[in-house]
Amino acid sequence: MTVSIKTVREVAGIRAASQMAAETLILVGDMLRPGITTEDINTFVHEDTLKRGGIPAPLNYHGFPKSVCTSVNEVVCHGIPGPRVLQNGDIINVDVTTIFEGFFGDTSATFFVGEVSDEARHVTEVCRKSLDLAIQEVREGAKLGDIGAAIQGYAQGQNCSVVRAFVGHGIGRTFHEAPQVSHVGKRGTGLRLKAGMVFTIEPMINLGGYEVEVLADKWTAVTLDGSLSAQFEHTIVVTKTGCEVLTKRSRPLKNSEEHLAAALIGG
Ligand code: MF3
Ligand code: CO
Ligand code: CO
Repeated sequence: MTVSIKTVREVAGIRAASQMAAETLILVGDMLRPGITTEDINTFVHEDTLKRGGIPAPLNYHGFPKSVCTSVNEVVCHGIPGPRVLQNGDIINVDVTTIFEGFFGDTSATFFVGEVSDEARHVTEVCRKSLDLAIQEVREGAKLGDIGAAIQGYAQGQNCSVVRAFVGHGIGRTFHEAPQVSHVGKRGTGLRLKAGMVFTIEPMINLGGYEVEVLADKWTAVTLDGSLSAQFEHTIVVTKTGCEVLTKRSRPLKNSEEHLAAALIGG
């Protein structure tokens, strides 16, 4: 497993794709409300991506039938858009991956549909904060295990669990490449990070146990105990002193915990 160091030009390409994905995700936040279907989200993401000159990466990826992943409530990841109508109180992760000029950008967030329970709010907030803490660990010389340790330490301390079965990943001219980025781990262990490495961090955090099962459709991963699950994802590049979040958003997401958090600090 060799981890490539991207050139400045390659990073610029991934940044462009990442910013397109981020903008599409912002607009998904604007459209969310009770009564729309996950198919409506798929249609929007597909058309918005094409309008920007991009290609929706999920479509036909290893046979995935749609242009975006929509994961509701106990769905951990890889939910397939369809006729399901979003209900007041649902939480939904929307995972947008855009290909632009041959480069991939990958980002996701968990949104609130209408008014959600305190439990739903808790798991979503813990997930978003765990990703922020992980991002703060990233710099040249840090270890991959520092990322997993930050997520696991925080999430478990908040009475949540961290999914093991899916990991973050290197990204560039391919969707998924080395390294695998575990969301659990031990500080000071694993691959040493170098400036120019590009990968995603995308913790899936459950209210109950961390075990998942994949449904008969071969894609939809759900919590084994039926508990709620949240996920956030950014694509980042390692620098000498820290990292750049290539999928950084130009404004907070509507219908999200992030929006409420930003409002509290006047953002
Ligand atoms: N976007 C997902 C990730 O973060 C991968 C989705 S693969 C698909 O890695 F085929 F389900 F789209
Ligand atoms: Co990803
Ligand atoms: Co993704």
